[in-house]
Amino acid sequence: MSPRDASVVLTGAAGGLGSAIAQRLFEEGARLLLVGRTPGPLLSLARALNGGAGDRSRVDALVVDVTTDEGRRAIIDAAAARRVNVLINNAAISAFGPAQDLNPEVARRIAETNIVAPMLLTAGMLPLLHSRERAQILNIGSTLGSLGVPGFAVYGASKAALRLYTEALRRELADSAIRVQYYAPRAIDTSFNTPQVQAFNSATGSASDSPQAVARCVARMLQSESRQRYAGTLEAIAARLNGICPEWLDGAFAKHRRALTSLKFPSGASS
Ligand SMILES: NC(=O)c1ccc[n+]([C@@H]2O[C@H](COP(=O)([O-])OP(=O)(O)OC[C@H]3O[C@@H](n4cnc5c(N)ncnc54)[C@H](OP(=O)(O)O)[C@@H]3O)[C@@H](O)[C@H]2O)c1
Repeated sequence: MSPRDASVVLTGAAGGLGSAIAQRLFEEGARLLLVGRTPGPLLSLARALNGGAGDRSRVDALVVDVTTDEGRRAIIDAAAARRVNVLINNAAISAFGPAQDLNPEVARRIAETNIVAPMLLTAGMLPLLHSRERAQILNIGSTLGSLGVPGFAVYGASKAALRLYTEALRRELADSAIRVQYYAPRAIDTSFNTPQVQAFNSATGSASDSPQAVARCVARMLQSESRQRYAGTLEAIAARLNGICPEWLDGAFAKHRRALTSLKFPSGASS
């Protein structure tokens, strides 16, 4: 749909990509409910977009944790009041390191934030979205959800789960007025990537994009209603090939193994 017709819930709105999406969609005329966990950056973003004005009809902000029942309930209530017709599940956390160092708390938080929360928020929003003439759900995934990369087993597994959830939901809702979309960025220049991830990405020659460039793609996707997109031609081809025959790509990850081995990780702190 045209951003001018969109009333959007955007999770993770104050993050690197979230704030760029918020800015872009705002410029294109969308109304926004910005959702985030940390009040300072979220409220400043809402104020900046509103030009300091107290009018919250264009942009409002809600400080909640999407992994809690109360947080998701508050989003759904606020979304009903704003006649929301677009949900962008963007909030996520990262995990990076050898699989054997996985910390149980990190494993639980990754699952809660990256897959359980978007599924439950989507389920709770569906009655509202079904009541709209047209609606969209856009899930932000990752290339790493289609391509298993050493060091990203846990994060990649969460994004692969989100990708499959999105695909099944798209097919389930195909006869409805709700379009379900999945966008898979490659690396983005945000603080999501720790210095270790940045060192790994440069050792492996992984390309990255600015949050503004990714936000432009997300805005285009919202407008075009396309089902699934991957950032980067090579990444898109690799993801497709891997979907057909993953063994073909197994030989391409020696440098990733070397880079992972050369990095120092505190024991049990894979995150
Ligand atoms: N950066 C990359 O290289 C990359 C590549 C591919 C895909 N992606 C995907 O792009 C999306 C945005 O990533 P980003 O780079 O913008 O990361 P980011 O800068 O770390 O932003 C993530 C946002 O999610 C919020 N968040 C995390 N847990 C939350 C929770 N429980 N409740 C509410 N909000 C929560 C964070 O809030 P706090 O600040 O309060 O923690 C933060 O604002 C994610 O889905 C990520 O998986 C990123």
